[in-house]
This record gives sequence, structure tokens and C-alpha cells, in this order.
Amino acid sequence: MIFDRNENKVVSVLLGAGSMGTAILRRVCAGTKILFGDISEKKLVEIKKEYQGYGYDVETQIVDANSKNSIEDFAKKAASLGDIKYYIHTAGASPNQASAEKIIKLDLIGSAYALDAFGKVIAKGGAGLLVSSQTGYMWPPLTPEEEIQIMTTPADNLAELPCLKKITNPGIAYIVSKKANYLQVQYAATHSWGQKGARINTISPGVIVTPLAFDEFNAAGEGYQKMIDATPAKRVGTPDEIGAAGAFLLSDAASYITGTDLLVDGGTIAALKNGKFKLTGLDD
Ligand SMILES: NC(=O)c1ccc[n+]([C@@H]2O[C@H](COP(=O)([O-])OP(=O)(O)OC[C@H]3O[C@@H](n4cnc5c(N)ncnc54)[C@H](O)[C@@H]3O)[C@@H](O)[C@H]2O)c1
Repeated sequence: MIFDRNENKVVSVLLGAGSMGTAILRRVCAGTKILFGDISEKKLVEIKKEYQGYGYDVETQIVDANSKNSIEDFAKKAASLGDIKYYIHTAGASPNQASAEKIIKLDLIGSAYALDAFGKVIAKGGAGLLVSSQTGYMWPPLTPEEEIQIMTTPADNLAELPCLKKITNPGIAYIVSKKANYLQVQYAATHSWGQKGARINTISPGVIVTPLAFDEFNAAGEGYQKMIDATPAKRVGTPDEIGAAGAFLLSDAASYITGTDLLVDGGTIAALKNGKFKLTGLDD
């Protein structure tokens, strides 16, 4: 059975085929060709079968979002499929999954490589979304000068920045990386992506129940519970709530929104700033 005879379809790309990325993608990808990238071959096999089962036209590629070459190959593959309308980037590791060095490599430098590679191939009128985190708002971890350095340093040289090299605490590495994501999209929106006539934003989720979040709950149980209890929403969020907000940012309804961040956290950061809970575990 052939479900779709349309030719020259536009392309929707997701790098990091996890819970939130797929929740965003499935709200925008009808009628497009989908390209999934992930480091897990098993995940790609499963997701291809699942989405083909819904009638979608699906391609996959194994990608290591730590690697410039792997991301560039992925961008080439995406461009070979047609005009890239949507790019969603969610590949990331959390503080209880990796060391500070690995978090900076994947969450910060990998994102920079992806913004560069897809900034070269995104179609005019296309839109991108980097899944960042509420943690980028949790603490002022960078001076204004350091923020400018992160924004303007080429991706290949980021690892050598003193403000990043000195970080050894994985929690601080995560906060800095997620703050950096927002800085990176501000730069990309005004440079590569903006020059292509495409939009790029970040979305900063609060605590969303996904496999990554379970690793955090298991390691930091009580601190997490206090944060959830202090959050005005009094609960965690769901991948579908990020899906709805992310789909808005990718849609034409957000056509005047670029180079910005949308915090979707049930009010967690408002609670932190109002002293309803305190951060722990960030001693370097
Ligand atoms: N879950 C939360 O509470 C939460 C909150 C805020 C931000 N985030 C951020 O959201 C993003 C997505 O997380 P999620 O919760 O949907 O997790 P998830 O585990 O459901 O998805 C992450 C996906 O990324 C893939 N991946 C990991 N390393 C990779 C690599 N090197 N190359 C390619 N793919 C790789 C994984 O295989 C997985 O499919 C992450 O950047 C995370 O930091 C998560």
C-alpha cells in the first residue's frame, strides 16, 4: 500500500528522537517527509516503524550529536531529501547522566554545531527549535562578557573558553549549557538562520516526565520533590504540553518570533525567584 503519492515534499527533521522532540514533531509534520536522527539505532528502528504505521514518509540516520562530522552528514542527508521546513534539536544529557565535560560537549557545543550545519541548509521561511531547559534561568552563571564570548566564539573553539573549561560540577555545566543555547539562537537568528530568511528559537521546559527526567528523579529525589511542590502548577509537565508550545513556535502563528526563548515550566522559575525553594548541589 502506498499512502502518499506527493512528490517534492518539504522536510521535517528531528535530532534526538525522544519524548519531547516527537511530541513537537508530530504536531507539525503532516504532509512532510520526516528525517529522524538519534544515537540509538534501536530507537530509530522503533520510531520508523511507529511513524510509518501512522502513514508518514520516514527516513532515519544514526547521528552522534557530539560530533561535528556526524551532524554535518545529517544536515547533508536532510538537504538531499528536499526543502527543510522544520528543524528540532533535543539531543542532550542531564547532570545525573554525564560529567561536566560531556554535558558541555553535547548540550552546548553539539547544539552550536547543529545550528551552524542546519543554518546552511534550512529553507527560506523555515523554522527551528532547540530544546533547552528552565535551568538556564536558575542562576546567573555567566558575566555579560562571558555571554558575548559564548555567543560569538566559533563552535570549534568553544571548548577552550576559560569560562567553560573551569566548570567541573555537572549541575553547573547543565545550567551554563542551557543558558548558552539561548545565547546561541540569538546569534543564529541574526546571522546564519536570519540571513536564510528562517526563524530559530529555544524552548525551556520545566520538569517533564521523560526517560531523562527519571534519571534525575532517581538521583536527586528529595530536591526534585521540593521543586515540584513549590511550583505554582503543583505538578510536573508532560511531553505533550511541550509539544503544543513547541509547535506554536514553529508555526506561522509565531512568524514574528525569532531569537528568543519560551519558558514552559509551570511557574518553577517564578517560585525560585520568590524564595519558594532553594537550589542545592551546585558547590563546585
Ligand atoms: N525531561 C526534562 O525534565 C527536561 C527538562 C528540561 C530540558 N530537557 C532537555 O530536553 C532535551 C530532550 O530530553 P528528553 O527529556 O525528551 O529526553 P529523552 O531521553 O526522551 O530524549 C533524548 C534523546 O536524545 C538522544 N540522544 C542522547 N544523546 C545523543 C547523541 N549524542 N546524539 C544523538 N542523539 C542523542 C537519546 O537517544 C534520546 O532519544 C534534552 O536536551 C534535555 O536536556 C529535559
